[in-house]
Amino acid sequence: MKHEPLVLGIETSCDETGVGIVRGHTLLADAVASSVEEHARFGGVVPEVASRAHLEAMVPTIERACDTAGIALRDVDAIAVTSGPGLAGALLVGVAAAKALALGLGKPIYGVNHLAAHVAVDQLEHGPLPEPCLAMLVSGGHSSLLRVTDVTVGVDPMGATIDDAAGEAFDKVARLLGLPFPGGPHIDRVAREGDSVAIDFPRGLSSRRDLERHRFDFSFSGLKTAVARWVEARERSGEPVPVNDVAASFQEAVCDVLVRKALDAASSEGIEDLLIGGGVAANSRLRAMAEERAARLGIRVRVPRPGLCTDNGAMVAALGAEMVARGRTPSSLGLPADSSLPVTTVLV
Ligand code: KG4
Ligand code: ZN
Repeated sequence: MKHEPLVLGIETSCDETGVGIVRGHTLLADAVASSVEEHARFGGVVPEVASRAHLEAMVPTIERACDTAGIALRDVDAIAVTSGPGLAGALLVGVAAAKALALGLGKPIYGVNHLAAHVAVDQLEHGPLPEPCLAMLVSGGHSSLLRVTDVTVGVDPMGATIDDAAGEAFDKVARLLGLPFPGGPHIDRVAREGDSVAIDFPRGLSSRRDLERHRFDFSFSGLKTAVARWVEARERSGEPVPVNDVAASFQEAVCDVLVRKALDAASSEGIEDLLIGGGVAANSRLRAMAEERAARLGIRVRVPRPGLCTDNGAMVAALGAEMVARGRTPSSLGLPADSSLPVTTVLV
């Protein structure tokens, strides 16, 4: 049997210090230390707090990953790291750690794109990616539709949000409803007790006119404002706010647009596989709606399990292993931490 590459991946683009270890498509360890609780009282991620937390968590998280995988650092064939996009200071901690490991161990380093890593992670669960596939990435920082043929070479952006990311909308609406940060999982939970057709919230960029220019783009800021207005009107009239119904109706509006545009993009390209990734892919309604509507079109849906959808190191290791397996040229030791790395650059 061919030797499959043993790769250690480091992720620090936001508030999760992730260190993953994979052998080819096999996940050996996925250690994550999150600073989310330190940001909760601010209602959003504070970059300086995140950077400091990465610095403190880095070495223990690397040690934990190696222990779980039952390997020594000298055994790894390559180091992979998120080069961008993300918070500049946070990225810098991961990139510096990865360079130190690569230099100390004398192993190649691969600086990869965070978004492409969200796509590649699915291989750990469902095997090789169908080529081509349509990837919808939805998280706190991004909402994009990508056409992917070979994830180690590049991805074609078909559409993206023109304002808030989908997860950002979940977090802002949750805050409005008095739910804790990050709000996505809480909306998901309370929406189960609510009526998704109670309130008809707007579907962004879905009118015929908008579709002409923004067929595969998203907009969630109008929806967020509509929810705020609706809640304010209720409060002014002295009536209680039906949190479960608002959450369910909001969630329905987000999922409806995401699924409709993703399936339209796949159909327009004749693509039969839709992959959903990023933190919002953990949403139970999004998963159910995508599967139901895709089945009607003969499109298969792949969604990694929730723990692999949110930011983690295994996704970076998975993309790194694919780079090694496909013989891509490693990055130089001078690789940058690039907070605005374009989605089209998968390897720096
Ligand atoms: O991918 P991720 O961990 O980090 C970023 O790169 O942003 O995504 C985090 C986002 C947050 O906005 C969070 O509220 C959202 O994913 N999220 C969810 C759910 N679980 C996490 N949104 C909706 N439903 C969920 N179950
Ligand atoms: Zn992410």
